[in-house]
Amino acid sequence: LSDLRLKPIAVVRNGIRKTPKDWDKVQSRLILEKRYSEGLFKLRHFKHIWVIFGFHTRHDPEIPLVGVFASRSPTRPNKLGLTLVKLVSVKGGIVTVKGLDAFDGSPVFDIKPYEEEIDY
Ligand SMILES: C[S@@+](CC[C@H](N)C(=O)[O-])C[C@H]1O[C@@H](n2cnc3c(N)ncnc32)[C@H](O)[C@@H]1O
Repeated sequence: LSDLRLKPIAVVRNGIRKTPKDWDKVQSRLILEKRYSEGLFKLRHFKHIWVIFGFHTRHDPEIPLVGVFASRSPTRPNKLGLTLVKLVSVKGGIVTVKGLDAFDGSPVFDIKPYEEEIDY
């Protein structure tokens, strides 16, 4: 099986290190690696974006690993999270979003626009 290696394109900054009651209220900044910031051209036209990020800290080991592919648990073979978030702004190399359920320092591996015709 292929051994895909992922390069972080950004890091999450929101100061959150413990799961809050409501992620929807949390605003996060995605700080792009300088070399990828050109890729943000015209992203600001979208209302929502998908963020693929990495679970970089350990999750609660007490929670049993059951039916992982039927769950959104961070404890999974490939520690990738996928969240649809509200796009607040794109300024320079910083993308500000609302509703991203990722802790501070999480690596971001991809950003894609939400497109109704594809994502319905
Ligand atoms: C249930 S997962 C869902 C993530 C994404 N929406 C998905 O469906 O793939 C979200 C939870 O993962 C945990 N989490 C967030 N960032 C993490 C990180 N960097 N490492 C480990 N756990 C993290 C938090 O407890 C957060 O509430």
